Amino acid sequence: MILVTERTLVLIKPDAVRRGLVGELIGRFERKGLTIDALELRTMDAELADTHYAEHVTRDFYPPLKAFMTSGPLVSLILSGDQAIEVVRGLIGATDGRKAAAGTVRGDLSLSNRENLVHASDSPDSAKREIALWFPAHSV
Ligand code: TYD
Ligand code: MG
Repeated sequence: MILVTERTLVLIKPDAVRRGLVGELIGRFERKGLTIDALELRTMDAELADTHYAEHVTRDFYPPLKAFMTSGPLVSLILSGDQAIEVVRGLIGATDGRKAAAGTVRGDLSLSNRENLVHASDSPDSAKREIALWFPAHSV
């Protein structure tokens, strides 16, 4: 069995903080066996939103997404572990909470295509970019 240890950037979004789900979500990641390498409570400002979501800024859904993501504090984390990028994407489920599979974070706890509780890097390139953006002291 080949071990591929990776790091991924996770955001526990403002809806999860407001709903008191931070412990639930971190607990799921910890119980899976992932390691918390960095963790911070912070609020996204407009500039950080535009950079973080650079691939989406021209989309129709972006203005309400930006308003939501900047609406209150969120928890940013670096998680690490074997194939952590794909593993975390699997744990969080499909983007639309109404369609995400039961057993996933979004499938179990979200009924929205926007307020879907968690962000996670979707590839090694995005993980590298997002870790540098959110945790410059931890980027390599
Ligand atoms: P995306 O990167 O496609 O999803 P994911 O978070 O699963 O990587 O989209 C980023 C976020 O944008 C998504 O988590 C919620 C929001 N969003 C909308 O509000 N409406 C939409 O139609 C889509 C596709 C995404
Ligand atoms: Mg995405």
